[in-house]
Amino acid sequence: MTNAIVSVSKESRLFEPPEAFAAAARVGARETYDAMYRRSIDDPEGFWGELAAELHWFDAPKTIRQWDPPKTRWFEGGTTNLSYNCLDRHVAAGGGDKAALVWEGEPGDVRTLSYTELLRETARCANALRRLGVGAGDRVVIYMGMVPEAAITMLACARIGAIHSVIFGGFAADAVRDRVNDAGAKLIVTQDGAWRRGKVVALKEHVDRALASCPSVEHTLVLRRTGNPIEMVAGRDLEWTETVGVAHHECDAVPVAAEHPLFILYTSGTTGKPKGVLHTTAGYMVGCYVTTKYVFDLRDDDVYWCTADVGWVTGHSYIVYGPLANHATVVMYEGAPNHPGPDRFWAMIAKHRVTVFYTAPTAIRAFIRWGDEHPARHDMSSLRLLGSVGEPINPEAWMWYRDVIGGGRCPIVDTWWQTETGAIMMAPLPGAIATKPGSCTVPFFGVVPKILRHDGTEAATNEGGYLVIEQPWPSMLRTVWGDDERFRETYFSRFPGKYFTGDGARRDEHGYFWVMGRVDDVVNVAGHRLGTAEIESVLVAHPWVAEAAVVGRPDELKGQALVAFVTLKSGREPTDPLAEELAELVSAEIGKFARPDAIRFADALPKTRSGKIMRRLLGELAAGQAPKGDTTTLEDISVLAALRTDDE
Ligand code: PRX
Repeated sequence: MTNAIVSVSKESRLFEPPEAFAAAARVGARETYDAMYRRSIDDPEGFWGELAAELHWFDAPKTIRQWDPPKTRWFEGGTTNLSYNCLDRHVAAGGGDKAALVWEGEPGDVRTLSYTELLRETARCANALRRLGVGAGDRVVIYMGMVPEAAITMLACARIGAIHSVIFGGFAADAVRDRVNDAGAKLIVTQDGAWRRGKVVALKEHVDRALASCPSVEHTLVLRRTGNPIEMVAGRDLEWTETVGVAHHECDAVPVAAEHPLFILYTSGTTGKPKGVLHTTAGYMVGCYVTTKYVFDLRDDDVYWCTADVGWVTGHSYIVYGPLANHATVVMYEGAPNHPGPDRFWAMIAKHRVTVFYTAPTAIRAFIRWGDEHPARHDMSSLRLLGSVGEPINPEAWMWYRDVIGGGRCPIVDTWWQTETGAIMMAPLPGAIATKPGSCTVPFFGVVPKILRHDGTEAATNEGGYLVIEQPWPSMLRTVWGDDERFRETYFSRFPGKYFTGDGARRDEHGYFWVMGRVDDVVNVAGHRLGTAEIESVLVAHPWVAEAAVVGRPDELKGQALVAFVTLKSGREPTDPLAEELAELVSAEIGKFARPDAIRFADALPKTRSGKIMRRLLGELAAGQAPKGDTTTLEDISVLAALRTDDE
């Protein structure tokens, strides 16, 4: 961690919510937000209790919030079911005919599922899971592309109290194996292949390779999507159509306790081993429901599209659970944004009359590069609200998004949150909060963010520091799967009793927050969160590699790109083919999205006297700057000089 966090952003433009938008919004004035926020802090029980009561409970909660840091429990005594709240609740209220999912495949096929149909498919899947011996508390891994069946399987798990763990389809076999084993999954739900830019990603093949060493897995359930040939192991591998397809279309949702585990989602941290972030049912449900309702200000006739992948938390909270709990119509897209052409998203917005669009800064920067002529060709007048998530959005990208995509009329909600927070933590309510390009503005209800100095004292206005959260919130992670100690150590030891986000931020003179990015050894590449230690451990597993240090460097498109500094064992020579081989190794073991942009060989890595690799210095080298700051602790100053020469 660096000692000083320096903020360089000097953005001062302010955009008030458009009057017409504010007039129709759920929260239409700053004073209304202020009053609601105040109440959420002064009377959390009353505030959250009332919002939770908008959802269905089989038994009402007896208490609302318990807080014994680092542990929190919400809605204790209550029993509910998230699948019920996303589906049955709406059908029972007469809303079954409304489109729940409008899915578009990469090849252009469209499938619309009403709430009634989605409920039936979910029930079939739930019955099939049961037949395969999956019960409450059992873990089911979902390793799929962006197909409706991914959402259906998630909802089916929630329906019977099974715990799902979605693994992003871009992960390679070894990464799948590690996650499956950590979760102790009984079943893997997958596809023959997924479409990506006209090509097939061979998901089942990756599963087959992973399964060579996953003793807990009894079955795989395989959806045919791309039609590529696959091997089906008799007795182990089952066809979706012959299992889910033939199951009964009714299955009662099981009432589960408020704190019943809902899902595990693996995310990168500062060690080589990914963390299984655990979310439980009721708090997560309420968090997703309430944030979706207020931040996206959903109306009954909205067509809402979040371009994330269900393999990441954004897909969980804002493709599946939050919007469906709100009875929204959700657009889901299978493929790449530039297939068959760079205007795919804009064509889809026009075709489906999308009103709310939520995407990532890395995508926005790619759109800018591809050219304004692509959005200009399509009628995007249906849009009324834009969202951004995943990394800091630079003011240029923000302005382009506002002007070119939003036609200057749509507010932008820049939403800051994390896998661990489960739901949005800071964002402007679009009818109430004036926005500044690059700032996620103010905290959501119930969220108490603080910026701290190294010593735990509060930073001054505009002074960069560590972002922490002081009070518990409903959708807070409950633990790291199987590792309570790591949970405590990672999030609650740096500033005891407070949740440490791992991000650096500042708060400006208007009380607006500006998140600058990670202060730990986590790098955000194109919105994908990667632990550098995870990549280093792949590199050092190569027989020729002695040491490796991976750092991020600024990248115009991806936000950050990875640079690996590698030292070789004696007698081994650095060559271009070796660099290529090492980069490939990372692709093969973690996934293509983790492949370093550059491998730089060095005779030694700069270290402190205590033997710690000086990452800040390597980061500066990777960024092409001459290292500044204090280098007197360098074990061997000549190492630095040598690295610098390599650089030139
Ligand atoms: O560094 C912050 C950045 O993404 C991290 C969380 O990554 P992940 O758990 O993968 O979840 C991504 C989707 C919520 C944060 O610690 N981040 C996310 N949103 C923003 C952001 N940084 C700045 N502004 C944001 N809006």
